[in-house]
Amino acid sequence: MKDASSNSAAKKAAGEAAAELVRNGMVVGLGTGSTVAWTIKRLGERVREEDLDFCGVPTSFQAEQLAIESNIRLTSLNQHPVLDLAIDGADQVDINLMVIKGGGAAHTREKVVSCSAKWFVIVADQSKFVERLTWPVPVEVIPIAFRLTGRRLEELGGKPVLRQGLRKDGPVITDNGNFVMDVDFGTIEDPRSLAAKISLIPGVVEHGIFDNLDELYLARAGGMERIKRA
Ligand code: 5RP
Repeated sequence: MKDASSNSAAKKAAGEAAAELVRNGMVVGLGTGSTVAWTIKRLGERVREEDLDFCGVPTSFQAEQLAIESNIRLTSLNQHPVLDLAIDGADQVDINLMVIKGGGAAHTREKVVSCSAKWFVIVADQSKFVERLTWPVPVEVIPIAFRLTGRRLEELGGKPVLRQGLRKDGPVITDNGNFVMDVDFGTIEDPRSLAAKISLIPGVVEHGIFDNLDELYLARAGGMERIKRA
């Protein structure tokens, strides 16, 4: 069973450690979620305390609001199509650095932003690091297509569930105006092959399998481990 307090301490440690990667003049993708929120807050402190001069590209409304509160200068991908760095959280990372993201329904923008970056870093606590991926894959779909995409995802062996809002009063709507299906595939033997098959389904905007991670900042009980792609 997860220990919530040590988990949140680990999230803070990983998030804050990665904030030290940012240098003057950089353009940096700012991810979504409770772990990378520590990165954004720490970057805000560095702007205040050290006059750190950089621009952020937010991956969601939530990230944008936090960056504004933290006095971080923002820009867009259309103004800066190539980012120096992107930092984000994850739902699961396996030993080959394949990743599942989208717990915050932001994976479409997160993927676009991370693929625009020269270096993509994920910050996570130890509970996210696994031998093989088992987390249900978030799939963003256009609303008119969710029944068709649901059937096609079942044909791939998945069990799709339309993600509901916290008050269960309707589906979650993404920042792009779409729905999210969480699709349980059990243990995913070949994430790249599954990713390619999901991408071919009509109505799918983007799925949460990422194969572009460069470096993982993993907060373990014994300290921070940095795992780079070989
Ligand atoms: C949002 C994400 C998040 O980064 C992921 O869900 C991890 O969140 P947290 O750091 O709160 O555990 O992919 O779409």
